[in-house]
Amino acid sequence: MKSKSDFPKLKNPSVLSPMAGVTDVAFRTLAKKYGTGMTYTEFVSSSAVVRGNKDTLRMLDVDPSEKPVAVQLYGNNVEEVVEAAKAVEKKFDVIDVNCGCPVWKVIKTGAGSAMLNNPELIGKFVNKLASSVSRPVTVKIRLGINDKKINAVEVAKVVEDSGGAAIAIHGRTQKQGYSGKANWDVIKEVKEKINIPVIGNGDVFTPEDFKEKLEFSGVDAIMIARGALGNPYIFKQITDYLKNGSYKKENRIQQFFEYLELANKYKIPFYSIKLKSVAFTKGFVGGGILRTNLNKCNSTEEIVKCMNEFTDTSS
Ligand SMILES: Cc1cc2nc3c(=O)[nH]c(=O)nc-3n(C[C@H](O)[C@H](O)[C@H](O)COP(=O)(O)O)c2cc1C
Repeated sequence: MKSKSDFPKLKNPSVLSPMAGVTDVAFRTLAKKYGTGMTYTEFVSSSAVVRGNKDTLRMLDVDPSEKPVAVQLYGNNVEEVVEAAKAVEKKFDVIDVNCGCPVWKVIKTGAGSAMLNNPELIGKFVNKLASSVSRPVTVKIRLGINDKKINAVEVAKVVEDSGGAAIAIHGRTQKQGYSGKANWDVIKEVKEKINIPVIGNGDVFTPEDFKEKLEFSGVDAIMIARGALGNPYIFKQITDYLKNGSYKKENRIQQFFEYLELANKYKIPFYSIKLKSVAFTKGFVGGGILRTNLNKCNSTEEIVKCMNEFTDTSS
């Protein structure tokens, strides 16, 4: 049986949250450069791993700088998830099971957040995985199915008792999707009631949000998803803010060019680079026209031209 000491010690308490279509190896490497304490792959179908699906296997590329790095698996069949975990464990420091995804395609199969209906089943997954692989096993959950069925504390105890090395909690229910505010009271309660590391998650968009939620909840680390979308530099800002109480403004276009270099190195598909170009240009003056132009691009050369033209006219 694994124990809490198996979870890697993080250099920084800010963690890049798994994001489908976003946290490819190039993006994760950039987040690592800017100081994230840990990276996660996007969620990966265990059955696709077992079948050896080519696109899925590409999602498992890892950069040597990514230490520690977790693979996030999902599935409804414990034997298959174990088989997938065994197939990939050498490349990763942590095996994470997604028990939080609210997307219909996933929950209709009984995977993702549907597993919150059955804490015993989550326990079975963790137990079987922890005794089958040589890496620490963690779980990412939501608060519960809906506001009448909030069971994060119960699930966290099951994870701990079944040999889980840590738990991450997004402070919303399955029903909520992304509406309302993340409930950090429940995250705090989980931290108070269990002994394995707890990673809180939800609504951290600035270094100030990060500090406030860290101090409020006492969690061991905080995962950031939307706040890092198009801005992996947020991890540097957080580190600086925790250390000095101040941080520098980001240069998103420069970050995009850094991403592009890594994306070329890792042969990230064009559609994914194009999506990123749009994300990296959210939130600045004149960005709307730039994004319209980016959406029309058919090659990375065209994207680079758009970005350069924008920089020339805005500076
Ligand atoms: C585009 C996108 C893709 C996501 N994909 C995943 C995923 O693959 N696995 C997962 O556990 N959570 C996924 N999430 C949820 C985030 O990891 C995180 O739990 C959620 O966005 C709340 O954090 P935030 O408030 O920092 O955005 C995704 C979120 C976004 C916005």
